[in-house]
Amino acid sequence: MTRLGVAVIGVGSIAGQHLRAYAAHPDVELVGVFDAVAERTRAVAEQWGGRAYASLEELLADPAVEAVSICTWNDSHAAIADQAVRAGKHVLVEKPLSKTVADAEGLAATVAESDRVVQVGFVRRFSANARTLKTFIDAGDLGGIYYARATNIRRLGNPGGWFADSSRSGGGPLIDIGVHVLDLCWYLMGCPRPVTVSGVTDSRLGNRAGVTSLSRYKVADYDPTLSDVEDLATALIRFDNGASLLLETSYSLHASADRLEVAVFGDQGGAELEPRLTIVTEKHDTILNIAPQVDLTTFDFEEGFDSEIGHFVAACLGEGPQIAPVEHGLEMMRMLTAIYESAAAGREIVLD
Ligand SMILES: NC(=O)c1ccc[n+]([C@@H]2O[C@H](COP(=O)([O-])OP(=O)(O)OC[C@H]3O[C@@H](n4cnc5c(N)ncnc54)[C@H](O)[C@@H]3O)[C@@H](O)[C@H]2O)c1
Repeated sequence: MTRLGVAVIGVGSIAGQHLRAYAAHPDVELVGVFDAVAERTRAVAEQWGGRAYASLEELLADPAVEAVSICTWNDSHAAIADQAVRAGKHVLVEKPLSKTVADAEGLAATVAESDRVVQVGFVRRFSANARTLKTFIDAGDLGGIYYARATNIRRLGNPGGWFADSSRSGGGPLIDIGVHVLDLCWYLMGCPRPVTVSGVTDSRLGNRAGVTSLSRYKVADYDPTLSDVEDLATALIRFDNGASLLLETSYSLHASADRLEVAVFGDQGGAELEPRLTIVTEKHDTILNIAPQVDLTTFDFEEGFDSEIGHFVAACLGEGPQIAPVEHGLEMMRMLTAIYESAAAGREIVLD
């Protein structure tokens, strides 16, 4: 069997997970990499093998490249994905799909006219604990899901650099880490159509640069004086099937600890995916908290990326379904943007 030729565009932090998973995949040949920083392109090509492309155009013109992972900053995701699809490549694009709804719509239109696979990097959908829970949900064990709670709170977690610069990121914790838990809940709910969004954002603490008692992740170009993104975002989303979703996410908050929670509640049962996979039901007038006996009860980075990339490669080779298509990335951008709009306007937004 011929192997799928893959290149990675933007080889900073998260690209390491893509490169590791591709390198370990028996049906993939890692053809090369490109980054806007030439020195980084060379160093990563040396480490993982393959060509160090001098430009995006050179990479996309190479017929050996059949598929690409896009791991650049958020502001270039949609444009690079569009260029890649037009060049005939399959695309795995990191979350969020774009910085704006218009960019996502433009890309979705290009994808609709092509036969290429475009997968959005909603990695947590692919993880073992989510796959286990989805099996129970699809079998009807929770009944109709009518409420979900998504929490991703960092008390000291503004990484600075491009993450804190809205012109490159499109926003703060909402678009960076809130998107993971919002998407997970929405996916587990069966992707209902959002109809109203009420959001609040706050930016009172900045990046808490003065805190020295705890260490934190900082990007290479961290500058303690720079951050124009929100510290905190909360939202209530209503869906056309009557279900609702409550979201809270932060980079900076006077909380006693970080918190990751993903929970969905149905009329026959409930489930917590994070912090630990638990299924809740009722039998003989008794509430049962069921602890599935599985290797991974919480998200595991390596397993999640191996699984996400395994699905992408299978879809490119025509061997598997698409679990995170471009339309889902676009709908997620509509929800994220409506939260920011609602927060700025101080009122609920009605979606078309
Ligand atoms: N799925 C996840 O769990 C996860 C985790 C972290 C980051 N991410 C996403 O991955 C992306 C990258 O994040 P990161 O933490 O690796 O950032 P990073 O800054 O470490 O790496 C980004 C790299 O992209 C390069 N780059 C930026 N714009 C470019 C362009 N137009 N062309 C070529 N190269 C370009 C930069 O030089 C840098 O090397 C972001 O969109 C982020 O949201 C996803």
